[in-house]
Amino acid sequence: MTATAVVTPMKVTGEFPVVRSTMPKPGRCVVVILGVGGDLARRKLLPALYHLFLDGGMPDDFAIIGVERGASITDEAFRSGVADTLTGADISSAQLQTGWGEFGKRLYYVAGDLGSAEVYANLRKRVTEISTTIVDLQGHLFHLALPPSLYAGVIRQLASSGLLTKVRDPEERPWVRVVIEKPFGHDGASAQALQRGARRVMAEHQLYRIDHYLGKETVQNLLVLRFANSIFETVWNRHYVEHVQITASETLGVEHRGKYYEEAGVVRDMFQNHLLQLLTLTAMEPPTAFAADPVRDEKVKVLRAIRPVNPATAVRGQYGPGRIDGVTVPGYRQEERVAADSRTPTFAAVQFAVENWRWQGVPFFVRAGKRLAAGATEIAIRFRRPPLMLFPAEEGERLAPNVLALRIQPREGISLCFNVKVPGMAMQARAVEMDFAYAEGFGTEDHDAYETLLLDAMLGDQTLFMRSDEVEAAWGIVDPLLAYWDAQAPERFPNYAAGSSGPAAADELLAAAGATWRPLAKQ
Ligand code: BG6
Repeated sequence: MTATAVVTPMKVTGEFPVVRSTMPKPGRCVVVILGVGGDLARRKLLPALYHLFLDGGMPDDFAIIGVERGASITDEAFRSGVADTLTGADISSAQLQTGWGEFGKRLYYVAGDLGSAEVYANLRKRVTEISTTIVDLQGHLFHLALPPSLYAGVIRQLASSGLLTKVRDPEERPWVRVVIEKPFGHDGASAQALQRGARRVMAEHQLYRIDHYLGKETVQNLLVLRFANSIFETVWNRHYVEHVQITASETLGVEHRGKYYEEAGVVRDMFQNHLLQLLTLTAMEPPTAFAADPVRDEKVKVLRAIRPVNPATAVRGQYGPGRIDGVTVPGYRQEERVAADSRTPTFAAVQFAVENWRWQGVPFFVRAGKRLAAGATEIAIRFRRPPLMLFPAEEGERLAPNVLALRIQPREGISLCFNVKVPGMAMQARAVEMDFAYAEGFGTEDHDAYETLLLDAMLGDQTLFMRSDEVEAAWGIVDPLLAYWDAQAPERFPNYAAGSSGPAAADELLAAAGATWRPLAKQ
């Protein structure tokens, strides 16, 4: 057991030089949301665009066109539906009053089934009409808030209707960009097929692949922490780091997404994208500039340095019934639209090795799961113990190793654990934790990752979006694991109770390396 005593808050002091000192304003544009009636658009995209508008991050003039199958409704009816959606999201009535007049009048609606060519002709007509009302229009953004299986077809139709044209030079105006969401394909082969289709009709600089983790504040701060502080970078290597733990643990189950999750499972849902992104940002070399290609070049090098995982050592799990926060919850197999004998994993723990000069021999333990004891996403860097222990710890306890933990959620922040002398005549050491929380330190409210990502897409900054070679390299890492698990039925599913810390085999994975997982504690 290790001893961690006092928690000391860290304060924000002084002025910080920043890369982007004020909220940048994108050029005037038209944003088209295909699938505007869906969950993503209603829960994330529309509220994010409205928040951006209130914060001054929308262009001076813009239009948002929603496309959805079903009944044809007027723009007015669509606007009032969006107002209701925003009220149902975290937008207060005061916030709605402040901006709705100017925002609401810029919303338009086109009805139609995205499988038929007709809707694209109508959309084109509408886009052209609306575009002519915007002076100095800079571009069009098509956000595909749709099931991934529709991406290829919709991209093709956008191109054949003339809405999407290949733009060779990123500086050319008006620009035209397409935004898609992970998962990009179902495996490496389908991702490549999607990519080939996209490449036929647009350039790489026109395609924005969202992994919403990259829009999170702490994820971006990882780069600042690493590359704006010499104290961390000098110890950020195999000489000082014993291992790295990356955890994404959720208390939520699959909610109403049983059908999707049955096909995806935890590896496609979390590992291929979010978790490997966290790993690359933790392990990458300093880029030559904080710009799209230099950052993504370094990330892809990390992915390529990951040694093929021996699938037999990876741990998979599926939750059974249990209790979370005093409430009894069903097991995965009892969830809506999930097979009663489902083999889909809802938990995985994998040990990765990054075979390069910086990280050779340092294990990266990565785990993610649903219905666990606590909701917490973090990256923890555990440093080696001093070579010789001169000071005794409190009775029965070992001195704690230094751990730098980056909390992505909840309570975004950073904590550092180190040892100090216990006051008094005896010479005894004890661990303390210095804790920095964004909300308390800066007094700012969280903003959703989608605000950052939509703003960047309008600005034309691809730094926080996945490039095609990253997507392919990430599939290359998880494909063998997926194939192995497809071929080998799990021995015992479900193998962890909802509300627990996951299957026992996950603990054994770390024990084999002489380590233990950080407890899944409520923050
Ligand atoms: C999504 C996954 O990409 O990320 C979900 O599909 C998961 O299954 C979610 O719950 C987690 O995101 P966040 O931002 O809540 O950590």
